[in-house]
Amino acid sequence: MNSKDQSRLFILVMFFFSSIQTHLCFAADTISSGQSLIPNQTLISKGGKYELGFFTPGTSLKYYIGIWYKNILPQTVVWVANRDTPLTDSTSIELKLLEDGNLVLFNQLKRVIWSTNTTSFAMSTAEAELGDDGNLVLRIQSNVFWQSFDHPTDTFLPGAKIRYDNITKKSVSLTSWRNSNDPARGLFTLEMDPNENQYVILWNQNRRYWNSGPWNGQIFSFVPEMRLNYIFNFSYVRNENESYFTYSLYNTSIISRLVMQFSGQIMQSSWAESTQNWFVFWSQPRQVCDVYRFCGAFGVCNQQSLPYCTCLDGFKPRSPEEWNLTDYSGGCVRKTSLLACEKKVDSFLQVYLMKWPDNQKKLRYDEQRSYIETADDCKLACLNDCSCNAYAFNNTGCLIWNETLVNQQQLLDGGDGVSIRLRIAALERPGKKPLKAYIIVLIAGSSCISILACVLFAYKMKQRGKIKYEGRETSLSDLSIAHETDQGKLELPSFDFNTVSAATNNFSNKLGQGGFGPVYKGTLLDERKIAVKRLSRSSGQGVQEFKNELMLISKLQHRNLVRLLGFCIDREEKILLYEYLPNKSLDVFLFDPTRRVLLDWSKRFNIIDGIARGLLYLHRDSRLRVIHRDLKTSNILLDEDMNPKISDFGMARIFGGKQTLANTTRVVGTYGYMSPEYAMEGIFSEKSDVFSFGVVLLEIVSSKKNNSFCLPEESYNLLGYAWRLWNENKALDLMDPTLIESYNSQELVRCIHLGLLCVQDHPLDRPTMSTIVSMLGSDTPLPIPKQPVFTLERRSFVQSGIRSNSHDAMSINFVTITVPQGR
Ligand SMILES: *[C@@H]1O[C@H](CO)[C@@H](O)[C@H](O)[C@H]1NC(C)=O
Ligand SMILES: *[C@@H]1O[C@H](CO)[C@@H](O)[C@H](O)[C@H]1NC(C)=O
Ligand SMILES: *[C@@H]1O[C@H](CO)[C@@H](O)[C@H](O)[C@H]1NC(C)=O
Ligand SMILES: *[C@@H]1O[C@H](CO)[C@@H](O)[C@H](O)[C@H]1NC(C)=O
Ligand SMILES: *[C@@H]1O[C@H](CO)[C@@H](O)[C@H](O)[C@H]1NC(C)=O
Ligand SMILES: *[C@@H]1O[C@H](CO)[C@@H](O)[C@H](O)[C@H]1NC(C)=O
Ligand SMILES: *[C@@H]1O[C@H](CO)[C@@H](O)[C@H](O)[C@H]1NC(C)=O
Ligand SMILES: *[C@@H]1O[C@H](CO)[C@@H](O)[C@H](O)[C@H]1NC(C)=O
Ligand SMILES: *[C@@H]1O[C@H](CO)[C@@H](O)[C@H](O)[C@H]1NC(C)=O
Repeated sequence: MNSKDQSRLFILVMFFFSSIQTHLCFAADTISSGQSLIPNQTLISKGGKYELGFFTPGTSLKYYIGIWYKNILPQTVVWVANRDTPLTDSTSIELKLLEDGNLVLFNQLKRVIWSTNTTSFAMSTAEAELGDDGNLVLRIQSNVFWQSFDHPTDTFLPGAKIRYDNITKKSVSLTSWRNSNDPARGLFTLEMDPNENQYVILWNQNRRYWNSGPWNGQIFSFVPEMRLNYIFNFSYVRNENESYFTYSLYNTSIISRLVMQFSGQIMQSSWAESTQNWFVFWSQPRQVCDVYRFCGAFGVCNQQSLPYCTCLDGFKPRSPEEWNLTDYSGGCVRKTSLLACEKKVDSFLQVYLMKWPDNQKKLRYDEQRSYIETADDCKLACLNDCSCNAYAFNNTGCLIWNETLVNQQQLLDGGDGVSIRLRIAALERPGKKPLKAYIIVLIAGSSCISILACVLFAYKMKQRGKIKYEGRETSLSDLSIAHETDQGKLELPSFDFNTVSAATNNFSNKLGQGGFGPVYKGTLLDERKIAVKRLSRSSGQGVQEFKNELMLISKLQHRNLVRLLGFCIDREEKILLYEYLPNKSLDVFLFDPTRRVLLDWSKRFNIIDGIARGLLYLHRDSRLRVIHRDLKTSNILLDEDMNPKISDFGMARIFGGKQTLANTTRVVGTYGYMSPEYAMEGIFSEKSDVFSFGVVLLEIVSSKKNNSFCLPEESYNLLGYAWRLWNENKALDLMDPTLIESYNSQELVRCIHLGLLCVQDHPLDRPTMSTIVSMLGSDTPLPIPKQPVFTLERRSFVQSGIRSNSHDAMSINFVTITVPQGR
């Protein structure tokens, strides 16, 4: 090494040391007093889980200090320091730990734009450390005097607290970001209720629109999904000084967070390593339409279609750009503003909604103090009030909306809604505008015939565009689809909407509500009875994609599968026609105190065997290899002879295409039947169906529901209970007492044994369906089941008073987590 090299080395070393003095070396987890962090430098927590540094959210060009997961892409920020004071330039900005113990952020002019603001003890021994729990702490030795967990932004990490301090009367709460590009304080806040043991979500710091229901020691009563708590250990603490909610993870290598999202929903999710996706456990309110002012002023929310928000007729989005970013809170504005109020020439449009918009007031007397008796009086009262936007009159009186209309919800088919008269500019009256179309057509047309055709077309268009809330009629697009199907591409018959509507007497005879939509009973002209499943709108699939899937599913034919007879596609409508089974579903018998007597042991054993064969066919014998994903007793239908037929198979394929919404994967399935790996990570395989089969099997034997199981000893669910009895050699005690006359103890114990094999935690431990079918048919010795840890000893949520009916679903499909409870 010559002297030149040496001096170079020296300079390098000097440079290295000099940079340590003011800045940090990389991959540190601590900033000491006097040190600072500049862009392109980050702190990394000891275990490598979290990273702190400068970042620019989304497409924003502004700089923030934040903490994010080191190993998760896209970057997921859990904390922002200067959320309300971003930096616009990255040159010579720094985050510095001052000698007085405060961590401060300097902008390019060396002004302090954010500070931890602690009045500490002016100690130069202070350090700022990023912990492996995502908490940034300021401390002197082990004495913490400031921590980011006390100043959360929108994310609640394990170990942090959402609390209410009963001494200072202040809360530590989560506030949503404005949107994905802007971490500034948004509209929604999650906090502790100071008076009750529950959470609340506030809109704009003042309007409470959701509460979690009281904590019952296990879950919040309106959040039964928390029952799936083999991952989270939630706890609630309350004393005279404070009340708070905190949680930890049983397995600390799982990454999980609770976020107050800018949509107004809170969401608990976990990172699924295998799918590289955030997996949503629960979000509340379940329906975005229940978020206060979700669609803003004059918007209408529809839970069943995308986008969720549209504008009332005569209105348009205030900011199309924001709507594009799925931020609807700006709402809608009039397309044509109302003429000067005095002229009183505005017109009114009848609009049907699910419920009254908020903020109505009831008018008894008009301006002249005379009593309002008729709809015309009410209308006049509205016209006379320049701020009146809508009125409604019914036999109980006159309702007036003199503020902006908020919280409108689209009336869905079959609901009993309300109707209001919306004030719009006379020019916006539907029926006026298409006049233009006629004129253009008349000018353009060259022959009588083409004019006639065009006018007809324009008329159709007008009809279609008119009012969404009216009943539907056959349109040109129906004809074209019918035509296409005529060409014989499809083997499965297609029915037109009018036929289906007539067959079901205009969808009046509802058989039930499945996760994917309501089911109606119908009779075709040839007297054939059918079950008609009207799929929830916008499965997210295109017509062609949908048809392709149907073609595949229609090829699945087995005596233990319900047969698909045909389909109907009509604009938004997608309808499936199935064979009708008179005996309804298995749960109707099993869980009914009188009807369960009708299922003696040999019938039950036949049902178990049939389900196993149907599933085996889906998994193995059909070329498609369908995984059911939502097997449960309400999805098993029974024919006249009580033979089981599995329904709703293949739905995951139909709905599978677009299950992601804003990059979150949702669970399709039903609590109580979901395997741990599916519930926790969204991993599904044939073995997840095997798990559900095991649950169904134990339910058939015991006539008890797994997800609403309640014993004096409390802490058992059906699986836990079955396991305990099995271990105590009392397996027969699980049997439904009504089987006492008919049971075959050898078969019954074998079924319980098999059920326990199916519900083992580890998918590899569970038998395949073909093994199960052969195990059912022979009496070779069975392996010893392992204790199901996850599903054991977690209390069910029934005690909390949540109704758990056959379709309590959580058949969370694509966009919604619906728990239909019969509106
Ligand atoms: C940070 O790194 C990027 C690329 O890695 C570079 O373009 C940018 O100039 C760096 N910024 C600073 C302030 O060093
Ligand atoms: C710190 O105090 C200053 C002045 O009192 C205030 O403007 C600023 O918002 C405070 N910062 C934080 C993070 O609380
Ligand atoms: C659950 O959390 C509570 C309170 O934080 C703690 O006392 C308890 O040990 C935890 N239980 C488990 C199994 O981790
Ligand atoms: C909170 O403090 C008040 C007195 O400031 C007291 O009356 C009340 O009981 C306390 N709340 C709880 C939950 O202890
Ligand atoms: C409440 O605060 C008082 C005063 O700081 C303290 O003496 C008491 O132990 C606290 N109570 C609890 C339950 O922490
Ligand atoms: C904890 O989770 C990790 C990652 O999901 C897994 O590899 C590990 O086996 C789990 N540990 C336990 C004790 O379940
Ligand atoms: C909305 O987004 C689409 C593509 O995502 C784009 O084509 C359209 O121009 C955008 N509209 C507005 C108003 O920003
Ligand atoms: C009339 O309106 C009231 C609300 O003010 C509502 O409760 C009632 O059901 C309505 N009556 C009818 C017949 O629609
Ligand atoms: C609507 O009516 C209420 C009660 O009469 C009144 O307080 C409020 O100011 C009115 N709002 C507008 C925008 O006129």
